[in-house]
Amino acid sequence: MTGQEKIPSFDLTRNYNRVKEEIRVALDRVLETQHFILGPEVECFEKEIASYLEVENAVGCASGTDALLLSLMALDLKEGDEVITTPFTFFATASCITRNGAKPVFADVDPDSYNLSMESVMEKITPRTKVVLPVHLFGQTCKLELITDELSQKGIAIVEDCAQAIGAHRIIDKKICRAGSIGDIGCLSFFPTKNLGCYGDGGMVSIPHNKEISDRIRNLRVHGSGKTYFHDEIGINSRLDAVQAAILRVRIRHLEEWNEERRIVAERYMLLFKEKGLLDVITLPVEEDGNRHVYHQYVVKAERRDELQEYLERRGISTRVYYPLPLHMQHCFSYLGYKEGDFPVSEKLAGSVLALPIFPELLPEEQERVVEEIAGFYGRQN
Ligand SMILES: Cc1ncc(COP(=O)(O)O)c(C=O)c1O
Repeated sequence: MTGQEKIPSFDLTRNYNRVKEEIRVALDRVLETQHFILGPEVECFEKEIASYLEVENAVGCASGTDALLLSLMALDLKEGDEVITTPFTFFATASCITRNGAKPVFADVDPDSYNLSMESVMEKITPRTKVVLPVHLFGQTCKLELITDELSQKGIAIVEDCAQAIGAHRIIDKKICRAGSIGDIGCLSFFPTKNLGCYGDGGMVSIPHNKEISDRIRNLRVHGSGKTYFHDEIGINSRLDAVQAAILRVRIRHLEEWNEERRIVAERYMLLFKEKGLLDVITLPVEEDGNRHVYHQYVVKAERRDELQEYLERRGISTRVYYPLPLHMQHCFSYLGYKEGDFPVSEKLAGSVLALPIFPELLPEEQERVVEEIAGFYGRQN
């Protein structure tokens, strides 16, 4: 250790200090009502999210994982159905498929955006494909407009995993389309470290234009009952609680500002890496044309990644690897029959990506230190 202050991957305390007063007012409001599960706070927040995403309906639930699970339940997946997704993502993206009895079919990702390659998705389509489940990874949306028409002609639904991308958008037909409004269903996570996080677990399903699916998800989250104690089908218990909704109603008011601050942090990293002449050993994330990246993570590709990570850790700089083992190589998915080499881009990324500290309140001098230490590791210090 160098004796200097540590630089964390994220620091929720700094963010909390900015909104403390507003949060306390919101919490008091809920405590005074003693109404904790669903109810008016959740309904208001659902409307606010729907209006933010410009979708017709939004349904709160207990987590991003449950948002995915509920979405696929509402699409009536059955054994033998296939869902195409990426192997380079968080586990929940694929586990919700198997928990619905269907089969995950992986397609490889694009080496620059780390998102599903739409060409490889189209190559994986079979008569059993029911859903395509793209992930807007690290805060940047996938090029869904390339496949939406063809998929809808084939009757294949798109469920967007937007856990990392609230506020990200892409321009489609000259229109701004936010993550969660492009496919048939969108799934959000409010895990505390997400760009819009709550103070526990929370999630939301956005349904741009299908009231029937929205009503179905609304029932499925309360044990499949439209009317209390009368069950139309077997659902689960997955409710957003009023305390989290009240917190989120405060925090969503700041989301645009915080996402802009993340973008400024990303821009500053880019300038610093250029200034230090590190672009031959560090490959920076690419913001694709027509995209608004919201930098949930700032993920670079680094030469000698593991050594670099240890070096930074010793110097008090925390970094993360998202994700060290692609899903097709996870033990629990061995029954799918994939092997090493099946998805070379994902596998290569797993060995080279490194997420640097990023959060709205990260200070310029902290970023300078991160880049200086990286320069030191590669022997490039002035
Ligand atoms: C891509 C992705 N999908 C799904 C999830 C699951 O969200 P949650 O942790 O709210 O269940 C996450 C959360 O880390 C995620 O990053």
